[in-house]
Amino acid sequence: MHYPAMLFTILPLASALVLPGTTPDCSSFAQSVQLSGYNATYLNATYYTEHSVSGYGVYNDIPFCEVYASISYGSNDTLVFATWLPNRKAYEDRFMAVGNGGMAGIIDYGGMITQMNAGMGFAVAGGNAGHLASENNDGGGAPGVYIPYLHDKEQVTTWIHDAISLFTPAAKALVGAYYGHEARHAYYDGCSTGGAQGFALAQYHPELFDGIVAGSPGNWYSHLALSFLWNAQATATNASKLSQDTLNFITNATLNACDLNDGVADRLIENPLACNFTIDSLVCNAAAANSSTCLTPAQLKAAKAIYAGPVRSDNGTQLYPGFDIGSESSWLYQEGLLSNAFSVPILQNLVYDNLSYDASTFNWASDVADLDVNAGTLIDEISPDLSAFKDCGGKLLVTQGWADAYNAATWPIQHLEQVEDFFDGSVAEWFRLFMVPGGGHCGAAAAYKNVPAAYHTVAKLVSWVEGGDAPEDILSTDPPDGSSRTRKLCSWPATARYVSGDVDDWNSYVCE
Ligand SMILES: *[C@@H]1O[C@H](CO)[C@@H](O)[C@H](O)[C@H]1NC(C)=O
Ligand SMILES: *[C@@H]1O[C@H](CO)[C@@H](O)[C@H](O)[C@H]1NC(C)=O
Ligand SMILES: *[C@@H]1O[C@H](CO)[C@@H](O)[C@H](O)[C@H]1NC(C)=O
Ligand SMILES: *[C@@H]1O[C@H](CO)[C@@H](O)[C@H](O)[C@H]1NC(C)=O
Ligand SMILES: *[C@@H]1O[C@H](CO)[C@@H](O)[C@H](O)[C@H]1NC(C)=O
Ligand SMILES: *[C@@H]1O[C@H](CO)[C@@H](O)[C@H](O)[C@H]1NC(C)=O
Ligand SMILES: *[C@@H]1O[C@H](CO)[C@@H](O)[C@H](O)[C@H]1NC(C)=O
Ligand SMILES: *[C@@H]1O[C@H](CO)[C@@H](O)[C@H](O)[C@H]1NC(C)=O
Ligand SMILES: *[C@@H]1O[C@H](CO)[C@@H](O)[C@H](O)[C@H]1NC(C)=O
Repeated sequence: MHYPAMLFTILPLASALVLPGTTPDCSSFAQSVQLSGYNATYLNATYYTEHSVSGYGVYNDIPFCEVYASISYGSNDTLVFATWLPNRKAYEDRFMAVGNGGMAGIIDYGGMITQMNAGMGFAVAGGNAGHLASENNDGGGAPGVYIPYLHDKEQVTTWIHDAISLFTPAAKALVGAYYGHEARHAYYDGCSTGGAQGFALAQYHPELFDGIVAGSPGNWYSHLALSFLWNAQATATNASKLSQDTLNFITNATLNACDLNDGVADRLIENPLACNFTIDSLVCNAAAANSSTCLTPAQLKAAKAIYAGPVRSDNGTQLYPGFDIGSESSWLYQEGLLSNAFSVPILQNLVYDNLSYDASTFNWASDVADLDVNAGTLIDEISPDLSAFKDCGGKLLVTQGWADAYNAATWPIQHLEQVEDFFDGSVAEWFRLFMVPGGGHCGAAAAYKNVPAAYHTVAKLVSWVEGGDAPEDILSTDPPDGSSRTRKLCSWPATARYVSGDVDDWNSYVCE
C-alpha cells in the first residue's frame, strides 16, 4: 500500500541519524525529531532494557526506546501516545498500532508488549484515545454520574473514529526517523472498543493501514448499548432473573443437545447456528417452580428475549442481534451491569444530557432516533462501503467469540453479510471473519476453560498483506485450564470438522 503524501518531512539532526546495528541515545534522538507538522509535541523518552517493563504480567523480550508525545486536536483537547522503537536488529520494517478497551483514556501497554514480543519485528504505538481515564469517572461509568468526555463532541468522535488516526502519522514519522526510513507495512490490532476503532480505520482512514485485526468489534456501538439495556430490562424483575446456576444449567442442556454436531465430545458447540436446541424443553413442571434445574415461565420469557435481541416496539425491526445457543453461562453481566456501565451513562450524558434521565422510560420506537442522531453518528462505524480500504489493498481480519459476554456473536456475521451485499458477492479476498467456538470477549469465556484463548491472528495477517496468502484457518492456543490443547479457527462460514488423530490437536481438524 502506498502512504499518503507526507506534508511535512521529518528532519532528524545529523547526529541522531541511526546507523544499522547501533542503538542511538533514546532521548536525544526523540528530541531531535521535528513533530510540529503533526500537531505533536515531544514529552519524554526512556530506554528500556530487556525484561524491564510489563503489561498484564508479560515482560518485554526486546530492549526498546519509548517516546511519549502528545497531539493537540479540536478546540482544546489532547491525545497522548507512546511509540516503542525496538533495537535495530529486532526491527523488520513493520509498524503496529494498538487500540483501546471500553471507554479508553489509557494506553494499552499490555497490547503493546504482546505485539512487540510477537516476533514480527514491529515498532509499536498506542494512545489514550484523546481523553484521560479520569474524564470517564472511574473508567466504567455508572447511572447518574457526569462523564466529562461524553459531553465534548470532539472527544466523543476521537474516542473511536479518530483515536488511532490522530497519532499514527506522527508515530510513523518517529519510526522513520529512528531507523532511517519509513516502515514498509503498517498494521493495527484492537479488540472490543479497539475492534470498533479497527472498523473506523477501514471506513474513515482507509489509507493508513495495510492490515487490520478487529476483535469482538463493538462497531455498532450505539445499538450494542441498546442490547445491554434490552437485556437488563428483560431481567429487571426478581422473577425474571437468571442466576449463574440457572445459566449454567441452560448451557449444559445446549451442550447435551449440540456438542456432538462436529463429531467431538468436548463440551463445546462448533456452530451454534446449526444447533436445534429449543429452550422450551427446560420449562418447570408447576411442582418445581424454584429450582436451578428448570425455568419458570418468567425466566423462560427472559431467556427468549436475550436470544431474540432488541426489536422496535412499533414494527418489530431488529435493532441488534440476540445472543446465541451455548453463550448463556456468560449472560450474568447482561442482567444490569453492562447497561449501568455503558447504556445508561451514554443515554444520560451523550444522548439526553440529563443525569436524571430514567432509562426504564426508553421508548423502543420513538427514542431510537434520538440515540442514532446523538450517539450513532459519533460512535458507530458500520458502513458496508469499505471500497476505499479495499482499493488501497487493505486486509481486514475479524475475530468473534461465540460465547462473548458483551457482544452478540452474530453481529460481525451480519455486518460481513451487509458488506457482501454491498459488494455483490464474496469479499474474502480482503475481509475475513473467524468465529471462535466457546470464545469470550477478546479471549477466554469463564465457562469454557478448555478453549484455547490466544488467537494467532497477526502472523496470518502479515503473510496475507505481504505474501498475498489469505488465511483459511488460524491457530488458537493457551486455554485457561493450562492444557496444551490447540484448535483450528476457520474463515466463516467454514467451521472446523474433526477428521482423525488427537482431538486436542488443531491438525486433526479441517475447515469446511
Ligand atoms: C493541526 O491542527 C490544526 C488545528 O486543529 C488543523 O487544522 C490541522 O489540520 C492539523 N494538522 C495536522 C497535520 O493534523
Ligand atoms: C512521560 O510522559 C507520559 C505521558 O504524559 C507520562 O505518563 C510519563 O510518566 C512520563 N515519563 C517520564 C519518565 O517523565
Ligand atoms: C482547556 O482545557 C483545560 C484542561 O482540560 C481546561 O482547564 C481549560 O479551561 C480549557 N480551556 C478552554 C478555553 O476551554
Ligand atoms: C428482589 O430481590 C431482592 C434481593 O433478594 C430483594 O431485596 C427485593 O426485595 C426483591 N424485590 C421484590 C419486588 O420482591
Ligand atoms: C449436565 O447435563 C447432564 C445430562 O443431563 C447431567 O448429567 C449433568 O449433571 C449436568 N451437569 C451440570 C453441571 O448441570
Ligand atoms: C436441525 O433441524 C433441521 C430442520 O428440522 C434439520 O434439517 C437439521 O438436520 C437439524 N440439525 C441437526 C444438527 O440436528
Ligand atoms: C429459590 O431458592 C433459593 C435457594 O433455596 C432461595 O434463596 C430463593 O429465595 C428462592 N426464590 C424464590 C423466588 O422463592
Ligand atoms: C420500522 O420503523 C423504522 C423507523 O420508522 C423504519 O426505519 C423501518 O424501516 C421500519 N421497519 C419496517 C419493517 O417497517
Ligand atoms: C430529565 O429526566 C427526568 C427523568 O426521565 C425527567 O423527569 C426530566 O424532565 C428530564 N429533564 C430534562 C431537562 O429534560
